[in-house]
Amino acid sequence: MPFGILGTGSAFPDRILTNQDLEKIVETNDEWIRTRTGICERRMAEPEIATSDLAARAGAKAIAEAGLTPADIDLVIVATFTPDHFTPSTACLVHGKLNIPNCMAFDVNAACTGWIYALSCANGLLTTGMAKKALVIGADCVTRLTNFKDRTTCVLFGDAAGAVVLGEVEEGRGILSQFCSADGRQGQYIIVPGGGSRNPCSHEVVDKDEQFLQMSGNDVFKFAATTLPEAVNIAVDRAGLKIDDLDWIIPHQANLRIIDNAVKRLHVPHEKFIINIDRFGNTSAASIGVALDEAVGDGRVKPGQLICLVAFGGGLTWGANVIRL
Ligand code: UT7
Repeated sequence: MPFGILGTGSAFPDRILTNQDLEKIVETNDEWIRTRTGICERRMAEPEIATSDLAARAGAKAIAEAGLTPADIDLVIVATFTPDHFTPSTACLVHGKLNIPNCMAFDVNAACTGWIYALSCANGLLTTGMAKKALVIGADCVTRLTNFKDRTTCVLFGDAAGAVVLGEVEEGRGILSQFCSADGRQGQYIIVPGGGSRNPCSHEVVDKDEQFLQMSGNDVFKFAATTLPEAVNIAVDRAGLKIDDLDWIIPHQANLRIIDNAVKRLHVPHEKFIINIDRFGNTSAASIGVALDEAVGDGRVKPGQLICLVAFGGGLTWGANVIRL
């Protein structure tokens, strides 16, 4: 039997950070942010909220939407590059918070492509019989690694979590294809230089703001311009489909101009792309899960429809899945 999505969930902080709020923090303006990125506002976790809190909320909703209880889950994967701690993993924290019976639980770090990597790993493990029902979560509190003195990055990111429960579905439905790739030679384009084993946390690291994310936006933009359409084409091909067969494309929400570029290169109508970057900004591994949950919730995405999920990000990494819901 194939494996597919049984339920979706999402969670985000209540606190909203608008472009106008950012105008008071760095030298930027609403017009620049909207025209260059498509972002109007983003969510920012309150000080007491960490990634596992949002992840657990999204996960609990996905389990309930699937008509299941935590006792039914036997695999937990969390995609994140902003874990609460180096150890325990965020997946283990979620496992504990939701009181899931003892099972395999681990994090995947593929930055903004984490959602695709986690979904693909879960599908692989389910297919081998190692688990029957997987809770897959993409969750990031990127604002915790954001330098609010750096206008080139601080206007882009937000905090959120998206989740799905994967389990057996009828023949012809579920995850029809997967494609994941990486080019480590371009890793320096998105990097948190300090705080890890290469450059452990110290006063010097903090003085130089090296605990924050640094990004070469133009290089990542060029990378995304080619890899996003490439990933869609490969995933569609592997599913034995044509691009016109897709009902929806849910891209990682990094920049509206990157999505517009994909529209042109793939010759897919703009209306087929699910876009919510205006309200959430770039929420990294959470972005696809949040958009999916929203589109399922408001009835745009319906059972039986074909969806392509596609992402790119730190690593550098990229990938896509085709799913029949
Ligand atoms: O999730 C995956 C990882 N991230 C991405 O996918 C991000 C990909 N890259 C991008 O989305 C875009 O490259 C950015 C949004 C980051 C930047 O947009 P851009 O059109 O590539 O701008 P730019 O970096 O070429 O900068 C253009 C100008 C510069 O000024 P000068 O040198 O022309 O005078 C920047 O200093 O815009 C300036 N600028 C800003 N101005 C106002 C950069 N950030 C800002 C800002 N407000 N926030």
